[in-house]
Amino acid sequence: MKKLENQTAIITGSSSGIGQGIAIEMAKEGANICINYLSSEEGAEETQEEIEKVGGKSIIVQADTSKPKEVSNMFEQTIKAFGTVDIVVSNAGVQKDASFLDMSIDDWKSLIDINLNGQFICAKEAAKEFLRRGIVEERSKAAGKIICMSSVHDIIPWGGHINYATSKAGILMFVKTLAQELGKHKIRVNALSPGAIKTKINEEVWKDEESREKLLELIPYQRIGEPEDIGKAAVWLASDDSDYVQGQTIYVDGGMTLYPGFSDNG
Ligand SMILES: NC(=O)c1ccc[n+]([C@@H]2O[C@H](COP(=O)([O-])OP(=O)(O)OC[C@H]3O[C@@H](n4cnc5c(N)ncnc54)[C@H](OP(=O)(O)O)[C@@H]3O)[C@@H](O)[C@H]2O)c1
Repeated sequence: MKKLENQTAIITGSSSGIGQGIAIEMAKEGANICINYLSSEEGAEETQEEIEKVGGKSIIVQADTSKPKEVSNMFEQTIKAFGTVDIVVSNAGVQKDASFLDMSIDDWKSLIDINLNGQFICAKEAAKEFLRRGIVEERSKAAGKIICMSSVHDIIPWGGHINYATSKAGILMFVKTLAQELGKHKIRVNALSPGAIKTKINEEVWKDEESREKLLELIPYQRIGEPEDIGKAAVWLASDDSDYVQGQTIYVDGGMTLYPGFSDNG
């Protein structure tokens, strides 16, 4: 039996990178997928093709996850196609980098709107649907699973990215508080905090040899991660294998959070 057989997952920002990796891994485990994108319809179609190759079913819905009406429409479309929603991965996120002194209030607000407020909006819609439907024992022990995409920068300060690091630190407490509040309804809420994963968001770093070498110094396990690494962790967090895991942030980072600067006596 596949781990997510007959379950339906909405994965925001699955037209690219980590979201695409999660969509493919969840489809391999039998989940129906709502592929969400903002600007890259082509990327969403690529994800759909990959899902087809592993025998999965999917729909594509464009929605800006910082806009409640668009998110609500995405849930409606998914419920229409597959009957309900069992898993929501709030993965959509952006970087708008600048030093603190150069950062505009617009760069601050618009990033918080997508990276943090979007988590609130998606989790709200998810909780409403999970509560409406309740537990279906043949599919899962939980009434629903919410997985928020955070980052190692929820605990590692990151100069030049204060809006991003603050948004991810916000997710850490959002997940704990929401998990505490929704636990009694058998809704599980957890987060994944990736380290450096090869995607569009950071391609200028891993494509350039010198920057790649510098990055590897920050990773004790000595490799840059792939979207598939996060996809497999997301499958585990969405499946009953992790049924007793609630309110946790799991670091999938090759050891980036282990203070690698101290590995040789500091
Ligand atoms: N890559 C890393 O090293 C890393 C590390 C830690 C955490 N993360 C987190 O992982 C998540 C995915 O990042 P990624 O590395 O896969 O980056 P990516 O390849 O740039 O993908 C970002 C995805 O988010 C979507 N998106 C952006 N704004 C959106 C919005 N307002 N509404 C809906 N979708 C939106 C994009 O859609 P379109 O392309 O269609 O516009 C795209 O599918 C982010 O939350 C990021 O912070 C990444």
